[in-house]
Amino acid sequence: MTQRWNVSGAAESVRHAALNEAAAMLRDGATVAFPTETVYGLGADARNTEAVARIFEAKGRPSDNPLIVHIADRSQLEELTTPPEEAVSRLLEAFWPGPLTVVLPVRPGVLSPLVTAGLTTVGVRIPDHPVALELIAAAGCPVAAPSANRSGRPSPTRADHVWEDLAGRIGGLVDGGPTGVGVESTVVQYVPAAAAGGRPAGGGVLHILRPGGVTAAQLERALPGVAVREAAAHQDPGEAPRAPGMKYAHYAPRGAMTLFRGRPGTAPEQVLARMQRELDEARARGERTGVLTYGEHEAAGWRADCVIACGRLDDLDEAARRLYDALRAFDEAGVGFIAAEACPEAGIGAAIMNRLSKAAGDRLIDV
Ligand code: TXA
Ligand code: MG
Repeated sequence: MTQRWNVSGAAESVRHAALNEAAAMLRDGATVAFPTETVYGLGADARNTEAVARIFEAKGRPSDNPLIVHIADRSQLEELTTPPEEAVSRLLEAFWPGPLTVVLPVRPGVLSPLVTAGLTTVGVRIPDHPVALELIAAAGCPVAAPSANRSGRPSPTRADHVWEDLAGRIGGLVDGGPTGVGVESTVVQYVPAAAAGGRPAGGGVLHILRPGGVTAAQLERALPGVAVREAAAHQDPGEAPRAPGMKYAHYAPRGAMTLFRGRPGTAPEQVLARMQRELDEARARGERTGVLTYGEHEAAGWRADCVIACGRLDDLDEAARRLYDALRAFDEAGVGFIAAEACPEAGIGAAIMNRLSKAAGDRLIDV
């Protein structure tokens, strides 16, 4: 039995009582799913190995993939990690609370070894969501929380997505309404100048291990003199991934998705025409078909069973918010073949393209 509390729009006293119950469950070693500003997380006391093991079990998550630890207040960071470099402190000033996870050297023995998956580092963030902050503060412990989906499925941006994947497998679910950003936090790791081979002059390098809610341009503005190195959306198979989670096929709908991207100079119509050719072939094979496109191209005369416009190309923030809901909608429509249109990789588009290429299992066609 999974307990469910609805706190969205609830009276202050109702919400307070619900979050106190949920916090008590966390302290007792149970798992509780809760909203953050990015996606719903599945939380457990990060110091308690039995509790953290329940997260991996409920999700079916590989044990070599470390978990992000969520705190409610900057002062909790000191217990978990060695003091951050000055550049990292500036980042925390600029983006916490918010969708930025910082990978730092972990203090030995303070967290369950399952959280760090044997690494000497831990990813930490303060979520920018009143429900998450109140829950973590009430629990009084660091809360390990991956996205609250079955492993490999699209991340949950609504409580019903969590319920669909995990009802009966977790202790509780706090329903705080739809999340805001829609894609997960940006995961970064700072390498100081000496360790980075003395380059660039004066500063170190900030590696984006996973693109997300905070964009590369925002990080560059916050850290003048530090080189920001973006993770490639499509990683060469031989290249060692720096965020262990990025090597798994991920975020995937049940149907097979192919991603279509225009080369520089290719007109959008040519990309749409190529998508339609592949859709026609899938229909000829007897498959139900789906199109993932944007508002600008929604009325392009698609021949497909299910057409979803995921926001607009001129408003990719909205596209990010709706992405995972769209991927799940294809499952509900029983679609077997999905043609997805690429978006520009600038700003939040980098995170959208990263998730789309994972969802497509790297089936990418350049037109
Ligand atoms: O927005 C988010 O980050 C959401 C919400 C719930 O906070 N959480 C989330 O967690 O997306 P998860 O477990 O689905 O993804 C965590 C990512 C994985 O790719 C993992 O490999 C990476 O962060 N990660 C965690 N700890 C790390 C570490 N010490 N070093 C490198 N990568 C790490
Ligand atoms: Mg996840």
